[in-house]
Amino acid sequence: MANNNSKTVFLVCFMAALAGLLFGIDIGVIAQAKDFIKQDLGVSDSVISWVVGSMMGGATAGALVSGKLTKKLGRKISLIISASCFVLGALGCALAWNGTILIIARIIVGISIGIASFTAPLYLSEVAPKSIRGTMITMYQLLITIGILTSFVVNTLIRNNTFTGAEGQIAANFLIADISLSWRAMLGITVIPSLIFLAGVFFLPKSPRWLISVGKTEEAKNVLLKIRSSADEAASEAQEIINTVSAHTGNSGLAMFREKPNFRKTVFLGITLQLMQQMCGINIIMYFGPELIKAAGYTSEFAANVGTIAIGLTNVLATFIAIAYIDKWGRKPILIAGYSIMAAAMTGVAAFMHFNYSMAAIISVLVFIIAFAFSAGPVVWVLCSEIQPLKGRDFGITCSTGANWLSNMAIAATFLPLLSLLGADLTMLLYAACSILAIFLIIMYVPETKGVSLEHLENNLMNGVKLRDIGK
Ligand code: BGC
Repeated sequence: MANNNSKTVFLVCFMAALAGLLFGIDIGVIAQAKDFIKQDLGVSDSVISWVVGSMMGGATAGALVSGKLTKKLGRKISLIISASCFVLGALGCALAWNGTILIIARIIVGISIGIASFTAPLYLSEVAPKSIRGTMITMYQLLITIGILTSFVVNTLIRNNTFTGAEGQIAANFLIADISLSWRAMLGITVIPSLIFLAGVFFLPKSPRWLISVGKTEEAKNVLLKIRSSADEAASEAQEIINTVSAHTGNSGLAMFREKPNFRKTVFLGITLQLMQQMCGINIIMYFGPELIKAAGYTSEFAANVGTIAIGLTNVLATFIAIAYIDKWGRKPILIAGYSIMAAAMTGVAAFMHFNYSMAAIISVLVFIIAFAFSAGPVVWVLCSEIQPLKGRDFGITCSTGANWLSNMAIAATFLPLLSLLGADLTMLLYAACSILAIFLIIMYVPETKGVSLEHLENNLMNGVKLRDIGK
């Protein structure tokens, strides 16, 4: 690719992937901020549950309306709406003077996260050249992990009053002490990246695939000229998209889902991939990291916080493995390797917790994180944005992203009840079993999409080729 154009593609993809940073920060902050909010605003436990849950409720709603939004207004305008909601919601959270305002602000943040988690991977899949499409969408996941790590560090910075003894003395010298300032800083910190995101998305080109689907072919050709290495490459990609759009006429969205059994297959595959991503138990570690570390035998607050930051850092670093290899090794082998290691590591966590081997249990958690970060974390988002045919893309990704948020909520809500019902070891074994099931489903149904154009996948799918072979 010509040097200038490849820089443009990288910048464009980086700006769109910034949405992931905001998504990530929000995943991490609320678990810790809630105790301070409770003390500072003097609200009840049920208001706190609403404060926590309102973001995910908003995100589910945001993901569900995104299909219509991105189709009617386009990917770029949807990203601008999402970024504006982020700024508004984050400011609202930082300045909220009572529980109700905070819940409303969290719903707004959630809606914007839902729209962003839908639109960013979709947009990335449509603008990136096919040879580096996987890497570019993985950048979105990298920024999610950096966001989570940021939130873990910020959490530690505000928890000084819970450290005791010598640790407390050290912590008191450099951590924020004021409770009200602490939680406002945690929730408000997203204002900074969301303003950068908002400013950046204005400069993004519109998706050439969306432009062609709404009949703006000339504008699409101009965009492709700027983001492809040569005029020839741009022209042949434009032609391929035009041919695909005119070959597959007829209804879109829900009607297409009812009429076309081939399309139903990719919709169900997208939902299954997202369910499997959540059911491996990743967010148990993200949301309950400190509690897990204590349950494994390291009971001080300091150890729990340092351990949580180690988890966050491992998550970031291992994502680089996917960045480097997703377009070389392919999606399917990476997924199979990742889920196999996750199943083994989660079984290890269960066994070591059962026999009280604290260090071995923590090492197993880190191995699990490495495996998730180079496989299911990025690859599921990549595949979900690649496999849907253009006319049904908005509907298909609405279903898969909605499944991600709903199952994310369900796993978080059922973890503590499961823990008291089954105990830590059996609960962990349950998540390991889900990873084993995922391996079989991947072998049976997941296609290899490495280096193949979205149009090639679509033509094969609609012509009745077996799901797992549509990339051939
Ligand atoms: C998942 C999130 C998870 C994160 C961890 C994402 O791919 O969708 O639920 O918290 O990875 O890095």
